[in-house]
Formats: sequence, structure tokens, C-alpha cells
Amino acid sequence: MDKFVIEGPSTLSGSLTVGGSKNTALPLMAAAVLADGTTTVTNVPDLRDVHTLSKVIRVTGPDVAVRPDEHTIEIDASTVDDPVSPYELVKKMRASFYMLGALVGRCGRARVSLPGGCAWGPRPVDLHIEGMKQLGAEIELDEGYVVAKATGGRLSGGTFRMEPSSVGATVNLLLGAVTARGGSKIENAAMEPDVVAFGEALKKMGAQIDGLGTRTIEIQGVDALTPIEVRNTPDRIEMGTFMILAAMAGEPGEPFEIKNGNHQHLGQAFKDYFRGTGADTKYTDDGAIVTPPETVTPVSIRTETYPGFPTDLQAQWTVMLATAEGEATVTDTIYDDRFKHVPELQRLGINVTVDGNAATVRGGQPIKGAQVMSTDLRASVSLVMAGIVASGRTDVLRIYHLDRGYENLATKLRSAGASIERQQYDEFAEPERTK
Ligand code: EPZ
Repeated sequence: MDKFVIEGPSTLSGSLTVGGSKNTALPLMAAAVLADGTTTVTNVPDLRDVHTLSKVIRVTGPDVAVRPDEHTIEIDASTVDDPVSPYELVKKMRASFYMLGALVGRCGRARVSLPGGCAWGPRPVDLHIEGMKQLGAEIELDEGYVVAKATGGRLSGGTFRMEPSSVGATVNLLLGAVTARGGSKIENAAMEPDVVAFGEALKKMGAQIDGLGTRTIEIQGVDALTPIEVRNTPDRIEMGTFMILAAMAGEPGEPFEIKNGNHQHLGQAFKDYFRGTGADTKYTDDGAIVTPPETVTPVSIRTETYPGFPTDLQAQWTVMLATAEGEATVTDTIYDDRFKHVPELQRLGINVTVDGNAATVRGGQPIKGAQVMSTDLRASVSLVMAGIVASGRTDVLRIYHLDRGYENLATKLRSAGASIERQQYDEFAEPERTK
């Protein structure tokens, strides 16, 4: 198993480059299943989740060529003859559940394993299932699988209002609706840039969609979609992660550049909160230039759906607050208990407590290196960020979580001045006696 060994504190300088978006690449790959022929997706990050979804798609029939060096994926979906997504793959990554919409949209039927829980509690798929029913699918649950069949072999289309607004359910319903017989309407739809970029790609494939980026999306089904070449968007969460890291660990007063990002995808709320930290920021066509403050001003945040503050940045923000002078809170309105990183941060001496869906951080305490455990993707990157500002050595264990969403993170961070090495270790080795 791999861990990161970090010697801190380091002061970062120079720049960090953002890769392709994980959360846009995955739906774009699922969209390729809808079209008879080869769809090429470029600017795809080399991540575990991308490789997992490649396997999930491959087992249904298509040829999937992953070219990590070129950050390109070619999916030849001429043949989709086994519309099944097995548990052993789906349990590794929730986004595999997009195959429900893709396979019903392409084949009129699907047998997809329920995704099961994740590190921070249950993540239901009731909206995905209810929505597919509204589009004309008959659905039953069988041995942990969702078995879906489009009545008459093709979805009819329909209207579905989702509560709460769900990124994944919006993606799945779009995958089903674009080749339905009739029209569909998704109300309270997700507006995240990942969903908008995915919807624009479907339109390039021939889908008829109005309202992307608003709460109401209307679709007119078409008989077939055509394969395309599409460039994936930059990863907005990686961009936000690097901006937060620059504010907390960058050389005060020295401009730090975040490259290859699209600042429009951060959402206005993030930009407003970030300005409050005292980190002067200039947004450019290529990303952002952050000038770190002498000391971070503590700013409390509440996560919301886009264009609100992204829940995928709340763990990173929590760590930044530990470097600020004063107290602030991080409230997550999207997930109830996405705070598995908090006990690990406490091991580093950070004064953070959780009450319900809010974490309160009292900054200014010395942060000291320790062994800490990754529990999920964004939690693990927050531990790496803490290790960079901690004094002494921090080992971040189980970084397979991190490899799901951050490509070449150690190499990138070393280029900005961090002391971080990937090392192998045996999780079950007997600890040596200390005397
Ligand atoms: C997507 O997950 C992202 N994953 C998540 O990023 C992100 O945290 C989340 O959206 C919220 O922005 C991908 O895009 C692959 P949701 P998703 O459905 O689609 C509830 C990361 O770190 N809900 O928008 O699963 C749900 O419990 C990952 O990259 C239902 O109640 O999130 C949550 O409270 C982690 N029923 C809320 O909706 C459902 O059927 C939003 O979840 C579906 C969701």
C-alpha cells in the first residue's frame, strides 16, 4: 500500500497546474456508450476512477482505449451487448451508476449494482431510480442490483422534479432522456459546470436539450446520437484546492499561479469567501494568480449546490482555517457527516470540533506532524495540505483514496517547494518495539 511522507513546514512558491476534471470526464465517458461508433475524450486525467469506469464500460461490450500519457480515452461503442454493471466494479466507484441511464438509453435495459455506501455514510440513489421510472422504465431490485427495462424497449420520456438537487441523478436522467421516444423535463436539476459541460457534449452528439445550467432542463428525445471528439473541462475542485493551499502555505506577498483552470467553474460564492481570507486574487483566462496574505483571515463557509461553495472543497477549507488567527465554522448542507478528516486533523494538533453538520476550527495552534489516515478523496488531500504546514514529519496513509482524484499530486507539490515523497508500506506489519 502507498503513503505520502511529508516533511514540514514548507513555504510554497511558483505555480501549480490543474488537470482535467474527474467529475466531468466520468459522465462524458458514460455518454460515449449512447453512440454507435468511436467517441474520443481528451484532457482526461489519469486517475483510478477513470480506469475503473473504463472497466465498467468495457464489460458491457465497447472497446475502451485508455491513453494516460496523452490524457485521452477512445470509446468504440459500436457494440453494447451485455448491459450489466457488476457489483465488484460499481462498489469501487459510485459514478459507475451512470451506466443505468447510459445502458437503458442505448439498449432499453440494464442490470446495475447498487453502489452501496461510502466513507461518509449512505449516499442513496432513490432520485436516480424514481427519475428513471418517470422516464418510462420499469425497475425492480434484485440481489443488490437495479434491474431496469424500458417499457416497449425504449424510454417514453417524462417529467421529474428532484429533491434535493442531485448531480448524479441529473446526469443519469439526461443519459436516459436524450434517446427517449418523447420529451422530458428535469426540475430542480443540478447546475454544476460538470453537468453543463456533459450536457453540451450530448448536444454535440445530436441531443436536443434546453436549459443546461438552470434548474429546469428540457429534452426532446432523438432516435440516435453520433459519436464525437470532445475536450474535457479543467478540474474546478483541483483548482480550488490549489488556491486554498496557496493562501495557507504560499510565500506571503509572492504571487502564486494556478494554471490551466477555468475560474468561472468555481462559482461566485467560493470567490467571495476566498477574497475574505485576505488572499488577493487575480482571475485570468488561464486560471488565477493568488497573493498569499501574511496571515489568513478566518472566514466561515456554508456549502451549497452550484454556484454555492462546493462541498468538495470543505475539507480543504477546514485545514486552511487551522492556519488562521481566530475561530470560524464550516457547515456542509449537502452531506450530513462529511467530516471523517476531523479526527485525523486533531491528531496533528488542530483544534477542530464537529457538531451536527458543522465543524468549528480555532486556528493559531501549532500544527505538528503525525501519522494520519485517509478516509476519502477530499479528506485525504486536506491531510496532505495539513502536512505541508505542519512542523516535522507527517505520514498520510492509504493514499489510494487520493489517487482517485488527484493525478501526480506529489510531483506537482514538489515542483512548488513541498517536501513530499510517495512510499510503500505494509499496513499489517508488526510495529517494532520501542525498547
Ligand atoms: C457528485 O456526487 C460528485 N461526484 C461528488 O464529488 C460531489 O460531492 C457531489 O456531486 C455533490 O456536489 C461526481 O460528480 C462523480 P449528489 P453525487 O447526487 O452525484 C442526495 C468528489 O469528491 N441524494 O449531487 O453522488 C445525496 O445524499 C465527489 O469528487 C439523494 O438523496 O452527489 C446528497 O445529500 C465526492 N438521493 C445530495 O443529494 C439520490 O438519489 C447531493 O448528492 C442522490 C443524491
